[in-house]
Amino acid sequence: MKIIKTAVSAALAAAVSFSAQAAEVEVLHWWTSGGEAASAAELKRMLEERGHTWKDFAVAGGGGESAMTVLKTRVVSGNAPTAAQIKGPSIQEWGDEGVLADIDELAEAEGWDDLLPEVVAEAMKYDGHYVAVPVNVHRVNWLWSNPEVFEKAGAELPTTWDEFFVAADKIKAAGFTALAHGGQPWQDATTFEAVALGVGGTDFYTKAFVDLDADALSGETMVKVLETYRKTRQYTDAGAPGRDWNLATAMVINGEAAMQIMGDWAKGEFTAAGKVPGKDYVCSAAPGTLDAFTFNIDSFVMFALDGEDASEGQADLASTILSPAFQEVFNLNKGSIPARLNLPMDKFDDCAKLSGADFVATAETGKLVPSMAHGMSTFSSVQGAIFDVVTEFYNDESISAEAAARKMLSAVQSAQ
Ligand code: GAL
Repeated sequence: MKIIKTAVSAALAAAVSFSAQAAEVEVLHWWTSGGEAASAAELKRMLEERGHTWKDFAVAGGGGESAMTVLKTRVVSGNAPTAAQIKGPSIQEWGDEGVLADIDELAEAEGWDDLLPEVVAEAMKYDGHYVAVPVNVHRVNWLWSNPEVFEKAGAELPTTWDEFFVAADKIKAAGFTALAHGGQPWQDATTFEAVALGVGGTDFYTKAFVDLDADALSGETMVKVLETYRKTRQYTDAGAPGRDWNLATAMVINGEAAMQIMGDWAKGEFTAAGKVPGKDYVCSAAPGTLDAFTFNIDSFVMFALDGEDASEGQADLASTILSPAFQEVFNLNKGSIPARLNLPMDKFDDCAKLSGADFVATAETGKLVPSMAHGMSTFSSVQGAIFDVVTEFYNDESISAEAAARKMLSAVQSAQ
């Protein structure tokens, strides 16, 4: 690991003056939707205010699968960017490759251990050293709905999966799409994990997707989860296969569809469209998951690069990301909540306030769980194995839930 030393004092002074060495800071991310792009633009703006140049390395594709493929090619060819959007256990995988930069000196000088919730701080370290900086905390187990469509259909907002199907039948009968969905593996998995949490509960969820427990992966509860999950497909429209997630959100925004199950980056789309929560749209917990919180923490990892200017650029980038001003403006646009503790939330809406309170509360009750669909709970090989089984099962009615559950276990075992 490379250690950023000389850059730290410059980074600390950077809030008031430019760093000694201006750098071209190349940042890989996949934030290309309306809300995402508005959020990324704030990072570019603030970094440029510190005297650096932003080189945008955006690779479109929700969930980041394409971005990760492109990144691997770049790093393997010895041409790593300054920083990349990498999160969860993948940070450990990249650490094992020996290509990351250690940003401990900045982290110590700024007191990151005290600024960050423990679960967040730990995820940013490799071998006890900070190699990444957190941008936000996204909650994944949300249901986004259009109250006008519900009213027209005479349906009630569901709080359980049984209620979901009652409401969905009414909405479908009234001529609307009940569930806006984009049939891409990561979106399939986002719905699937919400069903797993709602039907199976947090203990089941943790056993299956964190402990990779054989009984949980292939047992009766998983069968029930899979059956419930595939039933949701009947309430999507013919245009779902391959659709981007933000276009599914747009269907809820424009009243074509009643609901979407998606993390709170969807709120960034509502915000970008000028919509107001509680009036134009409603955020509520995905059915059956009111007391739980599936977290997804976006972060940027720094690569070991030659040259003092690169290190200064990285230190300034990391310092900017954790600054209160950035955490506020970025997360207001992105739909997430700040990764930093104790920041004022008065500018945030009720969905974000609820998320903030629930993040703290569920950390205490043990119902704060990492999102499998967003790379927080397993290494990427295991996640990929689960995605394959889930998407194949979702699209092929001839596969029984029992067979899919057995396949899930064997796929996870061979991916480890
Ligand atoms: C997630 C990422 C979010 C969001 C989403 C859709 O994996 O953590 O920030 O943008 O993908 O692109």
